[in-house]
Amino acid sequence: MTALDIDFVRAQFPAFAEPSLQGQAFFENAGGSYTCQPVIDRLTRFYTQRKVQPYAPYEASRLAGAEMDEARARMAAILGVETDELSFGPSTTQNTYVLAQAFRQWMNPGEAIIVTNQDHEANSGPWRRLVEAGIEVREWKIDPETGSLNPQDLENLLDEKTRLVCFPHCSNVVGEINPVTEITAIAHAAGAFVCVDGVSYAPHGFPNVGDLGPDIYLFSAYKTYGPHQGCMVIRRALGELLPNQAHYFNGDTLYKRFTPAGPDHAQIAASAGMADYISLLSTHHGGPTEGAAAQGAFAHDLMRDHEVALLQPVLDAVKNRNAVRLLGPSEATRRAPTVALALGRPAAAVAAELAAHGVMAGGGDFYAVRALQAMGVDPDQGVLRVSFTHYTSQLEIDQLLNALDRVL
Ligand SMILES: Cc1ncc(COP(=O)(O)O)c(C=O)c1O
Repeated sequence: MTALDIDFVRAQFPAFAEPSLQGQAFFENAGGSYTCQPVIDRLTRFYTQRKVQPYAPYEASRLAGAEMDEARARMAAILGVETDELSFGPSTTQNTYVLAQAFRQWMNPGEAIIVTNQDHEANSGPWRRLVEAGIEVREWKIDPETGSLNPQDLENLLDEKTRLVCFPHCSNVVGEINPVTEITAIAHAAGAFVCVDGVSYAPHGFPNVGDLGPDIYLFSAYKTYGPHQGCMVIRRALGELLPNQAHYFNGDTLYKRFTPAGPDHAQIAASAGMADYISLLSTHHGGPTEGAAAQGAFAHDLMRDHEVALLQPVLDAVKNRNAVRLLGPSEATRRAPTVALALGRPAAAVAAELAAHGVMAGGGDFYAVRALQAMGVDPDQGVLRVSFTHYTSQLEIDQLLNALDRVL
């Protein structure tokens, strides 16, 4: 496998050349990533050249609409789904609330959905509220020690009343990568649909959602080097079954059915910059020069290999420390580089100490309150979270390890 050209990668992110950020190692990527140059270029171009109502018969408008369509088509191709199976909404949380409303209308009282206590609240709370409509909500619980979700436990929760299973591809505090295909197969065998929160996974390489198999896959573009959009894959069979949530006259268009608000034209158009970046990564490293899904798969593995190599020493440095509890697996291959540490003291204060050493990290509950509580971590103290991506360098990892040595 080709090694990631880290200098090339960093040259695609203006933040690394920004004078005010020099010396500051960024370790809060799970909160939101730096934005790549192609996205910034497209956003700027849209605002300067195409900031008109799209899809009208004059040239600036035609270009605006075409660029929005391009974003959907190219990102859908990377994700291995049909163009109209991908839609853009304001954020993943807002997308989940709209979906939950659709399920509320479609399901009958007495039917059931399954949620986890590993999820970020975005893929949990909106579904749990369906209890108000007489829907039974069952919780698939993590192991309190390891934070793991055991597929065997899911089997025991499923029955013929279950319509939907919601779980994360990867939790934003446990970090463990869940076997989406295996879990999806279990849910499908019981006749239930599957909704996967991919927000914490997608920044580490876009998955081929078509191959993975879930009916819904959600992620947030502001964490995948793009603009502030929520990206939502809804496979056709489910999308056409659920009641339309948009204006009645838009219900025939699959990608409009679950995004009732007027779209953010410029940000959707700029989302094509994420596809540009994936293509650049693939081409530069000798990967496929065409075929979005193949380029996506190549970029995914390139990112993942680099991240795993950088992650293992970080896990080794923290896993045996007294007074530090590493949440989730200590083997880099099993997890994302999103590392949460419970310290038995308020984590935000420790993050502030790290800032003094030029490390940008966060402390808190990261909206994964249920997961922390289930693992016996006081959400008020929270966890210190250090999270990185493929653009992180060995020098930054060294800076992090030195800083952790001082503050832990
Ligand atoms: C795992 C996970 N899911 C969902 C969300 C919510 O995404 P959004 O901010 O787009 O609503 C986040 C945000 O941090 C997250 O980390």
